[in-house]
Amino acid sequence: MRSALRLAERAPLRARNTFGVEAHAGMLVEVRDAACLPELFRNAMLRDGPVLVLGGGSNLLFAGDPPGVVLSLAGQDIRVVQDDGDSVLVRADAGVEWHAFVLWTLGHGLAGLENLALIPGTVGAAPIQNIGAYGVEVRERIETVEAFDRKGHAIRRLAAADCAFAYRDSRFKREPERWIVTAVEFRLSRTPRLRLEYAGIADELARAGIGSPTPSQVAEAVCRVRRSKLPDPAVLGNAGSFFKNPIVPADLAEALALQHAALPVFPGADATSRKLSAAWLIDACGWKGHREGDAGVSERHALVLVNHGGATGAELLALARRIAASVQERFGVSLEPEPRVIGDSW
Ligand code: EPU
Repeated sequence: MRSALRLAERAPLRARNTFGVEAHAGMLVEVRDAACLPELFRNAMLRDGPVLVLGGGSNLLFAGDPPGVVLSLAGQDIRVVQDDGDSVLVRADAGVEWHAFVLWTLGHGLAGLENLALIPGTVGAAPIQNIGAYGVEVRERIETVEAFDRKGHAIRRLAAADCAFAYRDSRFKREPERWIVTAVEFRLSRTPRLRLEYAGIADELARAGIGSPTPSQVAEAVCRVRRSKLPDPAVLGNAGSFFKNPIVPADLAEALALQHAALPVFPGADATSRKLSAAWLIDACGWKGHREGDAGVSERHALVLVNHGGATGAELLALARRIAASVQERFGVSLEPEPRVIGDSW
């Protein structure tokens, strides 16, 4: 049996972040069975010091070394916990790779996650920033999140309604010192209810001549669209969208739309707010394809910062700050990073 715990001092993190930047963990702790967390956190270094939980490393930027301990949850269990014929509840450990999990559900005839195919990262990271793509957010499929509560010193089960999910946000993201997501339960269905309203996906299915797609065919279309727009982190270091789409007051969005007819404006959470396209704003400032040394902006998508090989996290962060400053100056809109910035602050 593989041991439940592995420790390494001064562990290199370059292969553990999709930007591929150099960083080191003073202490890396790899845990296979989350049930040992309450015991593990009796250790003073973990109990009282900073702990960074590292999933696939696809949504963070190491602008410096992380302080304290880096914890990696490596559990790989996936199982059906409830099945009433149509509605099926599936539980997956935090350490399972997200896309492999999506393929597992589709392979078992379960629909619901097809629009979220090929998102980098792990199951445990999915609720933290409420991953979303092509008209679906993962919160719509989550029933329960299991998380170790560092404050209460126990593993707790939180219903989706208690997770404060919002656009690229959750209570786990707002209280990173408190929660360590250990497993997630998803409510899936054998009867597909496909969500094809996002133009890019409908167009891709039409191009492939598919009239009434299966969930797997939707996932394949999503993969083709993602591959055409977003660079593969295995080839070119990146963390997907580097900026969130900004939520602005409706009157600012309307004023900007009057000046810039092509600016995409989406509904906000309520009537007083709108969501703008960060990619469009950045593109309009001329950043797409820009490169400074090995830090740059993807040629394919203005929202994606890339590491051409030897960029440091500090160089990528400096570039991101210049991009945000230029959007602020030209449009009066403030951009915020989507990935967590470690070892520095935004
Ligand atoms: N656009 C440009 N220039 C570009 C790219 C896009 O002007 O270089 C404009 C276009 O008008 C386009 C619009 O921006 O119609 C929106 O672009 P896209 O459809 O690519 O979506 P996005 O808003 O840029 C969001 C998510 C992605 C997700 C896609 C598809 C955020 C921050 N990003 O991007 O998520 O895959 O929608 O649903 O919400 C991620 O979070 O890492 C991520 C990749």
